[in-house]
Amino acid sequence: MSKDTLTITDNSTGNEVEYPLLKGTLGNPTVDVRALKNDLGYFTFDPGFVSTASCKSAITYIDGEQGILLYRGYPIEELAENCSFLEVAYLLIHGELPNEQELNHFKFEIDDRTVLHESLRVFFDGFHYDAHPMAMMVGVVGSLSAFYHSDLDISDPDNRYICATRMIAKIPAIAAACYRHSIGAPFVYPRVDLDYCENFLNMMFSRPEKRFIEQARSIDETAVKALNLLFILHADHEQNASTSTVRLAGSTGANPYACIAAGIAALWGPAHGGANEAVLSMLKEIGTVERIPEYIAKAKDKDDPFRLMGFGHRVYKNFDPRATIIRQTCHEVLRQSCQPDPLFDLAMALEEYALQDDYFIEKKLYPNVDFYSGIIYKALGIPVDMFTVMFTIARTAGWVAHWLEMPGDAGNVIGRPRQLYVGPSQREVMPLHRR
Ligand code: SDX
Repeated sequence: MSKDTLTITDNSTGNEVEYPLLKGTLGNPTVDVRALKNDLGYFTFDPGFVSTASCKSAITYIDGEQGILLYRGYPIEELAENCSFLEVAYLLIHGELPNEQELNHFKFEIDDRTVLHESLRVFFDGFHYDAHPMAMMVGVVGSLSAFYHSDLDISDPDNRYICATRMIAKIPAIAAACYRHSIGAPFVYPRVDLDYCENFLNMMFSRPEKRFIEQARSIDETAVKALNLLFILHADHEQNASTSTVRLAGSTGANPYACIAAGIAALWGPAHGGANEAVLSMLKEIGTVERIPEYIAKAKDKDDPFRLMGFGHRVYKNFDPRATIIRQTCHEVLRQSCQPDPLFDLAMALEEYALQDDYFIEKKLYPNVDFYSGIIYKALGIPVDMFTVMFTIARTAGWVAHWLEMPGDAGNVIGRPRQLYVGPSQREVMPLHRR
């Protein structure tokens, strides 16, 4: 028996089959069970894919026990300290950090594709002013596939790259347009003289009055720094639910913008990217430090559906390294904005209380990336219902990087899981008069 295999013995028949162990650069080896059904007639059962690797990928590595997050081998802490979001988006797509010339050309490619088709702008008129921005994002991003459907053969790598940069370029403009629509303000066109994050903030908050521009300028420098950081931290995260959704849609050969729209829909859920908005709602509901014990008890009560939003993670059973970084930035942004935020103080008190509670310690429930990000977005003047839209802007870089990576994966076949059928056995239909 080879050390590079795993033997599975079917005790009901005595049949033994060896399956190859596939080892990556880092992390858990995998057992290649693709032949299991034909060899032994079994499916594996793994709802939620807790122990299932869906693909090979070279983009992001996570060590949940050690709290490690690497983008193309670079620690997230070093990227956060030394790079802009556009540099990290380039890294995720190309696999290497850009030099100055490569970065300038990448910015040109993004700037060249950021303007929205004028016919796309009228799509927003169909939404009520109070439509949830994530509903608008799903609809408008999906409608890009109506504008860019058969224009490019997406089996061609160069065309796939155009689709990817087009998506990264347009997502901030669409996001800002959702906000402007919600406040009844005119859309602001992208500006190529601004960097990616500054451009987004300008499309969100630009006002014609000179006094607002001056005032906004002073806040922007802090906001741009904080936004670059938040976008870097949210850019990718291995095979999370929304990225897996993009890959599954992509495996059918669907239009790339429709695949990203599917990812946006998956991200919206409060168990995933919707958690940052849910954290703020939860903090507002808790209201005071005195009520924290009451809500901790609710979170621990099996009969209560309440969960502590912003806590826990499928992979991290230690601190989410992103939460650690964001926590520090929270302090800086609130100090700069000279607006003490009682919700931040409440969040800190809640974190302290939960981390000392046996239930959270035993279940290894730590604050995740969503716990603090909302506090910063709020300090930057981003409305709560736009928090997951912010997550969407950042994660688009990761989603398109995974979509670009797919054709290279030898196992890149259409995703089609099986099931454990627990329905009725075959039976005869009775005519209506006899039922
Ligand atoms: C993101 O996958 C990614 O990488 C996602 C993400 C990314 O960048 O893409 O990191 C972004 O989605 C972060 C997570 C944001 N979601 C939240 O903050 C929502 C609150 N957290 C939970 O819903 C939960 O922790 C999940 C969904 C994040 C993880 O759920 P799991 O891995 O399926 O864990 P589980 O439900 O099996 O929980 C294990 C135990 C359970 O108790 P028992 O059944 O063992 O008795 O821990 C409990 C859970 O009840 N538990 C919680 C809890 N999270 C888990 N109890 C109270 N509050 C919580 N938040």
